Amino acid sequence: MAKPTFQLPARGASPDLELAKKAPKNADVYLVPVFKGEEGLELPASALLDDAALRTVLETLTAVGATGKADEITRVPAPEKVAADSIVAVGLGDSEDVTHETVRRAAGAAARSLTGVGTAVTTVGDFGLGPAVEGVALGAYQFRGIRSEEPTADALPVEKVIFLGDTKAAKDEFVTAQITAESVLLARDLVNTPASHLYPEAYAGILAAAGRDAGLDVEVLDEDALEKEGFGGILAVGRGSARPPRLVRLSWSPRKAKTSVALVGKGITFDTGGISLKPAAKMEDMISDMGGSAAVAATIIAAARLNLPVKVTATLPLAENMPSGTATRPGDVITHYGGLTSEIINTDAEGRLVLADALARASEDDPDYLVETATLTGAQMVALGARTAGVMGTDEFRDRVAGTGRSVGEPAWAMPLLEEQAEELKSPVADIRNSHNSRNAGMLFAGLYLSKFIHEDIEWAHVDIAGPSFNTGGVSGYTVKRATGVPVRTFVTLLRELAEQK
Ligand code: BES
Ligand code: MN
Ligand code: ZN
Repeated sequence: MAKPTFQLPARGASPDLELAKKAPKNADVYLVPVFKGEEGLELPASALLDDAALRTVLETLTAVGATGKADEITRVPAPEKVAADSIVAVGLGDSEDVTHETVRRAAGAAARSLTGVGTAVTTVGDFGLGPAVEGVALGAYQFRGIRSEEPTADALPVEKVIFLGDTKAAKDEFVTAQITAESVLLARDLVNTPASHLYPEAYAGILAAAGRDAGLDVEVLDEDALEKEGFGGILAVGRGSARPPRLVRLSWSPRKAKTSVALVGKGITFDTGGISLKPAAKMEDMISDMGGSAAVAATIIAAARLNLPVKVTATLPLAENMPSGTATRPGDVITHYGGLTSEIINTDAEGRLVLADALARASEDDPDYLVETATLTGAQMVALGARTAGVMGTDEFRDRVAGTGRSVGEPAWAMPLLEEQAEELKSPVADIRNSHNSRNAGMLFAGLYLSKFIHEDIEWAHVDIAGPSFNTGGVSGYTVKRATGVPVRTFVTLLRELAEQK
């Protein structure tokens, strides 16, 4: 792809990836998979080590205590005659139980251990080329932020990782994984960028440029256009900020498309809660409240780069939720795009207000499927923890999206919409209200609220990623700190499957 024309203040670093027919003359590291066998460590034969080298490396690894258990990293000197300085072995566990996710995680853990290395050649791809490529790209990723000094080479990710493969199928799998991983990294970069640098207007500019680079049609509505077209939810949420809201629409319309998919993503560039102000603790993490929109933008860019024969339209409402003298108040009634009205009980339930407009707009195009994702509720984490997304929607499609997530290592679980909460949606002054006075099932209430803006006959899924999109816990496998890029791989996989389906 041509060099991007869009500007972010900082991009995360990640290695160059290459597919080669055979190993280059020399490398700094050979990265090889090992297994935990019944009789100890197993080192599978591969294109990198001949029989003699294989025996020596296995002996050395065993001598220093390598067991082959999943994600275990062991580094030993390369034997003479091997064209690398050292051998890094990464455990894949029991060879009978290896899955794509095992390979992805091991590749990620290995890539993290290669910080400061120049070139590594790996045969981990022998056990899943695509997963190995994704694991390396995602695991090695480092976002350093905006700093006054350049990092030293020994602090940077491995510069280049070479995978081995010589068939057309290998080439296809490699390219698909690389494009997918690059989209995950784009989503991570966007989410990791602070609100000082990423506010609605700036973000819209970045998405427009990135969209054009990928060959998408781009439309950006500014505050005047939003006013004219009646996007009352987006305007209400953006009203408190000196930095006005935007609505970005990106479309990928290949001629051979048989299926159409609308994607929608929450783009709150910072969520203070507004007049219903959030507590100070961890409020800085609310730079990630645009994670849904970042994942959706990254997904449609991947769809274009993969030339998927499916029509995709992304609708991205961008706003900053701030308290001020111009901010929307609790008790206010707003009119959404399409005409439904909402009473605002809590200005911190702002995501659903901007999404309401966006879902109504996306529904108008009458897509076959509508998939939306948002860092919508703290209740998602209460229900499912920090890593598992909650999926609501029409029964069959909801289950399908949750299953797709699990199949690519982005855990997701189907959740119901509750009949009994219909009563709690009622307002004395508007069609519906944006919050209920209950501690029960907050994630499901938000899902029910959103359902009112989706036209009948559209298969839809809402994916609440409040926890999974931003990692505030430990690092493991290919999951690094802060932005994760979830659910880009779920969505790209879903689009690839929908493209093949008809
Ligand atoms: N952006 C938050 C949800 C969130 C919380 C995401 C923590 C990631 C981490 C959302 O806008 C919000 O504030 N939701 C409220 C809704 C409530 C006021 C009905 C919540 O979950 O507390
Ligand atoms: Mn909020
Ligand atoms: Zn929010």
